[in-house]
Order: sequence, then C-alpha cells, then structure tokens
Amino acid sequence: MTDNRDRRVTTMKVGFVQNNPVFANVQKNLDRVAKLLDGRRADLFVLPELFATGYQFKNRQEVHDLAEQVPDGTTTAALTAIAKKSNAFVVAGLPEADASHVYNSAVITGPNGYVGKYRKLHLFSTEKVCFDAGNLPLKVFDIGGAKVGVMICFDWYFPETARTLALLGADLIAHPSNLVLPHCPQAMITRCVENRVFAVTADRVGSEDRMGPLRFIGQSQVVDPGGNIMTRASETEEEVQTIAIDLEKARDKSLNPHNHLFKDRREDFYC
Ligand code: ACM
Repeated sequence: MTDNRDRRVTTMKVGFVQNNPVFANVQKNLDRVAKLLDGRRADLFVLPELFATGYQFKNRQEVHDLAEQVPDGTTTAALTAIAKKSNAFVVAGLPEADASHVYNSAVITGPNGYVGKYRKLHLFSTEKVCFDAGNLPLKVFDIGGAKVGVMICFDWYFPETARTLALLGADLIAHPSNLVLPHCPQAMITRCVENRVFAVTADRVGSEDRMGPLRFIGQSQVVDPGGNIMTRASETEEEVQTIAIDLEKARDKSLNPHNHLFKDRREDFYC
C-alpha cells in the first residue's frame, strides 16, 4: 500500500477468494483456502460467507455444532495465520457462537491479529430459523489507512446497509457472500455508484442439496465507485483474483460542481 502523511493510503491491492467448500468439513476447507492463497499477494483478501462450513444448515443445532467463538476459534486463528503469512488483511464469513446465540458473522483479521467482526443484519430465508439476527452497529474498520465496511450477502438487498457504511466513511465495502439469487452482481454496481465506494464481493461456487438444491452463482467481483466491474470471476470455478485500486476515487463525493452525494440528501423527506 502507498502511504501518505495522514496515514490514509491512496492505493491498495484487493482480492477475493471464490471457493467451493464441502459442508461441515472445516479443516479441509481451511486447508483448501490456504492452498489457494499460497503465494498470492494483496493488501486485503475477501472470502465468502460461511466459507469454511458451507451454507445449508438444517437447523439451529447444526449451526451450534460448527459455530466458533470470535476471535477465539479455529477459523479466526487459521485466517490470522494466513494474514500474517501474506502480510494482508482478511475478511471472511463464519458461524459465530456467543453464549447461547449463533450469528452469521464475518471476521476481520490482519498481520497484527484480530481487528473486529460484523454480524449479518438481514438474514435470508431459512437463515432466520438457524441464526440470530446481527446485533452490532454497522462499523468501518481502519485497515492500515483504508476504511473498510463489511456487509454479508443478502444485506445488499437493503440499500440502507451500504449507504450507512458509506456515510460512516467507508472507502470500500467487503462483501462475503453465498449468492443464490441472480441479481446481486449487477445490483452491487448500483450500490457502488450511489455511494461512490469500491465493493469486493466474494462469492462461492458449487451446490448443496441438504434440504433441496441450492446452486451458488460465483461471479465474485470488484466494482469501482463509477460502477465499473474491474474484474469478475466465473460462475463455476474456484478462483483467486487481485487488482490494484485507487482509493481516492471513493473519497470525492462530488458528482459535478452542483451535486454532492451526501450534502444533497433530503433527509427531511425520507423515512
Ligand atoms: C444469502 O444471503 N446468503 C443469500
């Protein structure tokens, strides 16, 4: 990353991992991700939602069986080892246990260890049966001079999520996902344009059929604040992609001499 005087970096290399986890085989999935990332370089890697457990939990007990404390669990430790080895920050999804609660969470970790976590606010479909809804405020994390907000998959459907992260100062939204609906990759273009932020969506591929078939649509991507797809992965293959981004593009919220994305908001007319 290039550093400037006030510790705001201007450029960074970001990447995503698009994997195909085997349900409930956490160690195999962690090993696979470590292999996919071996020798790869970026300042930030984003991994999918529930990347090491798989997605289709049948009930709350199954989540409890695989949920881990954050930051004290195996998955956070494995991600921190990757972060240290590759001198990168990592954002990745996992089921989190907190006393009797289980959350669909994302952990943020880096070369110096654990940074923070996010708990998915908008649970999709049967996730509502298996997980507790997130109860932490949306937050922006400073990762070495870049401001990163985190949201998980279906949060994209609620534009307030990305808007809040942008208003909190996010340069980039890290978006671990397990996409099953077709619209998200295109919708994230709008989320980026309307907030002038970068977004790294990390999706998975493959399918699960533990309670009826689910196919995950891949197409992990990096989108810039102008709505350009900088890179997009396939619908079917495991992949790691990295790309350099200019964070300054996310910091100027003027659209033209007359319009400013935040100052022009008519909060007096919104609910
Ligand atoms: C989803 O939120 N995993 C569809």
